[in-house]
Amino acid sequence: MSRPESVKAADAYVFAREEVRERLEYLAEHSDPATHRRVRRLGPCEGWHCFELGFGSGSIALWLSQQVGPRGRVLAVDLDPRFLAGKAVPNLEVRQQDITRVPPPERTFDFAHVRLVLMHLPQREQVLEQLAASLKPGGWLLVEEHESFPTLLEKGVPSAYPRLWEAMFEAGHRRGMDGAWARKVPGLMRKLGLEQVGTDVDVPFFHGGSPAAEFWRLTAEQLQPQMEAHGLLTRQELAEATTLMRDPSAWLFGPAMVATWGRRPANPRGVDESGVE
Ligand SMILES: C[S@@+](CC[C@H](N)C(=O)[O-])C[C@H]1O[C@@H](n2cnc3c(N)ncnc32)[C@H](O)[C@@H]1O
Repeated sequence: MSRPESVKAADAYVFAREEVRERLEYLAEHSDPATHRRVRRLGPCEGWHCFELGFGSGSIALWLSQQVGPRGRVLAVDLDPRFLAGKAVPNLEVRQQDITRVPPPERTFDFAHVRLVLMHLPQREQVLEQLAASLKPGGWLLVEEHESFPTLLEKGVPSAYPRLWEAMFEAGHRRGMDGAWARKVPGLMRKLGLEQVGTDVDVPFFHGGSPAAEFWRLTAEQLQPQMEAHGLLTRQELAEATTLMRDPSAWLFGPAMVATWGRRPANPRGVDESGVE
């Protein structure tokens, strides 16, 4: 692992310094299968050079390092690299880096992936642009972000669960999170000149006690001090909502995962790599 540098963006990321392995592992358990499916759809990735931004538990970085094989490489960066510390994988390089201070190298990767990071960063558009610029001609960018709309489906349900969602998104919003960012990504990718831009959406419908429910329950508990301080949710309401989230007989909606992908033109405007038309 490269030497840690001093990191200052921690304040922008709502869970910085409080992140727990368990929460990220639940996230990986319920989100990884769809990410694997999306990556496989983009092409056989054997030999690819990949960039994984904000790797969290490290599950996707490790999976990519297997998919690309010995001829491929993965560069994985995170503000908080604890959860890949000590994992020696020959084709995986782990760096502690703040993406808002250290952009990825340009024209380097066959594939760049980010899941649930940009929505938290005030510099999200700038980072998206840098990710697009980090692709080799023909390289793919895959962005997966939560979108708040399915939680509106819970409006009118007589429980603290819908109030919890309002409070969580409001608390995030006050820290600079954008719960509607995901819907802007396809248009921005097109503006950045990416081609073959496509999207799909998973709307999770899960039972209490499932990995998705546990991820959101732990998230809610981590956000509790902020929600309470801003008068967004009482402890009693949080207790009611999390009881439901532990109840295997309760079926609940959560925020959608919106995936957007796009490809850097292989040969822009008929100009070859030497610049000759
Ligand atoms: C919600 S977690 C998502 C983890 C992983 N991408 C996943 O979906 O399982 C967000 C991750 O982004 C990292 N992160 C937040 N701000 C960052 C920044 N400015 N530079 C690099 N990583 C950042 C956090 O440390 C955390 O690991």
